[in-house]
Amino acid sequence: MSEVKITVRPNGPYRVEGPIKLVDANGNEWDLTGKPAISLCRCGASVNKPFCDGTHSKMGFQAAEAAVKKEEEAKAEDATPKP
Ligand code: FES
Repeated sequence: MSEVKITVRPNGPYRVEGPIKLVDANGNEWDLTGKPAISLCRCGASVNKPFCDGTHSKMGFQAAEAAVKKEEEAKAEDATPKP
């Protein structure tokens, strides 16, 4: 049995590998024939949704986990006693 693997790309799309069926809200299926892997847009800016078209890198998309980490680092820095 084949497995599906979904990889969260840093500040980028979800890379989906394996045998999948991708359907829209109406149940219409995308033809993924010959595509062993696809990248699904996570930033919301692709003009080819649900697929990633690379726009995330042009707009400087920062994924939620990166944004939270930055905020936590900033708070920790603010809490550090100053000499
Ligand atoms: S994640 Fe690549 S265009 Fe949105």
